[in-house]
Amino acid sequence: MMDQFFSRKEKSSESYPHLPDQDNIPSHIAIIMDGNGRWAKSRGLPRSSGHREGMKTITEVVEKSGEIGVDYLTLYAFSTENWKRPKTEVEFLMKLPERFLHKELPRLQKNNVQVKTIGDPSVLPAHTRRAVEKAVEETAGNTGLILNFALNYGGRQELVEVVRQLGQEVQNGVLEPDDITEDMLSGRLLTRDIPDPDLLIRTSGEIRLSNFMLWQLAYSEFWFTDVLWPDFTGSDLMEAVQRYQQRKRRYGGV
Ligand code: FPP
Repeated sequence: MMDQFFSRKEKSSESYPHLPDQDNIPSHIAIIMDGNGRWAKSRGLPRSSGHREGMKTITEVVEKSGEIGVDYLTLYAFSTENWKRPKTEVEFLMKLPERFLHKELPRLQKNNVQVKTIGDPSVLPAHTRRAVEKAVEETAGNTGLILNFALNYGGRQELVEVVRQLGQEVQNGVLEPDDITEDMLSGRLLTRDIPDPDLLIRTSGEIRLSNFMLWQLAYSEFWFTDVLWPDFTGSDLMEAVQRYQQRKRRYGGV
């Protein structure tokens, strides 16, 4: 827990000693970026400062992920439950995609990053939706890292939507209930175009999923750290990847 007492500048981003095994890089990393509020509180700052600092971490983690050859990076930026937060905090959080993309889009382009999103955009403020749509459109032709923002995303809501679709198909007589398969569910999820995460990271010491990618994380490796998201560095990401590389994935086999 000492990390939170040092600022980014005091923390070496290369403190983790070994390079990961290039033959076993997780193709898809999903991250629950937690601890922005506590980071700010421990410094006597408003929660918004923690979120602002957390954005800088995103930049570092995106770059590092691209460098080591991760194909997909999904970041839980706003959950369907986050609307319960005070109005001023929600408004601030809704400005972050614009701020981030306004500042970082040129660099994302330069690094060949493709921006995608999962979640229900219909209730996002128009300014948030526009900023994200612009980034998605302008990076659509990029072929490098896929940076997938989960924005107003909820795993249960996603599954309910799939169940509704399948129910409709049954009702329309185009599908028999007995013919429903796992692939049919996977193929109707918001993540239908991307593989399931290999590695899930959650920062800040909380050990729970908080409604994140409930179906997709069935066989993922989990890695939890006490480091708060604003303190998380490329070096922490390397540690997570190396821990992942020490795991033996059996998918229920032996
Ligand atoms: C969790 O910390 C963090 C969030 C709910 C928001 C995460 C968002 C960002 C890091 C920036 C998003 C940026 C873009 C570009 C979409 P918390 O507030 O729950 O912290 P706490 O648990 O310590 O209170």
